[in-house]
Amino acid sequence: MPDNIIEVKNVSKSFKKYKRGDSFFDAFKSLFHREFERIHALKNVNFEIKKGEILGYLGPNGAGKSTMIKLMCGILEPDSGTIKALNYTPSKDREKYVKNIGAVFGQKSNLWTDLPAIDTFRLNKEIYKISEHDYKKRLDELVELLDVKEIIKSPVRNLSFGERMKCEFIASLLHNPKILFLDEPTVGVDVVAKQNIRNFIKKINKEFGVTVILTTHDIGDVESLCDRIIILDKGVHVYEGSIPLLKKNYLSYKELIVYFEKETKNIELPNCEVIESEPFKATLRVDILNTSISQAIQNLMEKYKVEDLDIKEESIESIISRIYKSEKK
Ligand SMILES: Nc1ncnc2c1ncn2[C@@H]1O[C@H](COP(=O)(O)OP(=O)(O)O)[C@@H](O)[C@H]1O
Ligand SMILES: [Mg+2]
Repeated sequence: MPDNIIEVKNVSKSFKKYKRGDSFFDAFKSLFHREFERIHALKNVNFEIKKGEILGYLGPNGAGKSTMIKLMCGILEPDSGTIKALNYTPSKDREKYVKNIGAVFGQKSNLWTDLPAIDTFRLNKEIYKISEHDYKKRLDELVELLDVKEIIKSPVRNLSFGERMKCEFIASLLHNPKILFLDEPTVGVDVVAKQNIRNFIKKINKEFGVTVILTTHDIGDVESLCDRIIILDKGVHVYEGSIPLLKKNYLSYKELIVYFEKETKNIELPNCEVIESEPFKATLRVDILNTSISQAIQNLMEKYKVEDLDIKEESIESIISRIYKSEKK
């Protein structure tokens, strides 16, 4: 399809891992005879990414997220299946392909830590053969967007984690890539810097049309950024769709926080479980698989004197962790 920027078909990837026993004898034995097992990091994975999308790639530790990012960057090659990105095969056409992509790995720096970030930027200018004019223009834009004018002149090791991350973003975007891969970009970043980074990702997506693929543990990142999410568990995709669709299909309860006009005890309502009860306040969990929230409210109002109420729904975090455990509704 013409508007797909990446197409992943039947991709599997495994790693050889040497078994290491716990005892001294096992360790001694392994000097002569090393046994290994295969770890199937990705099993027959299929998906497409549309041009201009921000895709959230989620899953618990060890699910295979970083492996997929590395495959899409061309750092690794699939055992079987195919990856097409911008009409390249990433692992085969790496030299041409990398000019079109940027990558930020939260755990691994692309910057020279003893030098100011501006020196790494200059180096990237040479590596990617960016013209002086384009380089200046682009750097000015990015520095302005991220508000890092002074920061880029200090040695990277003196920067806070959030400041360093901003510089990582600049380094990965100077050559004007069409796709940006972000592997845990906000891990360890404080709340304010996190918000800045999210705003920045939105901007480069909207203003520069960069397609973004993001792995994260932070549901806040996902809710504020992603048009669509894929959830991966043990190398298999277990969900693919938008967040509203995720809620529609998987949300299992909503809660009513009720404030009563007078002291109210022993609340009983159909399809509602009392989670917390104080004299003038109660939290009720409504089983929305068996009733609607409006029906529950109607029942409540008929039976009790209600002063005010709030509706709270199951958090996305909780829905996703239920999907990991495959306790689908
Ligand atoms: N280079 C490697 N050698 C051996 N095993 C690996 C290697 N890279 C990843 N793995 C294994 O593959 C699985 C998926 O890892 P990874 O893609 O890093 O997961 P995630 O990023 O979702 O935490 C894990 O079991 C991990 O231990
Ligand atoms: Mg990872």
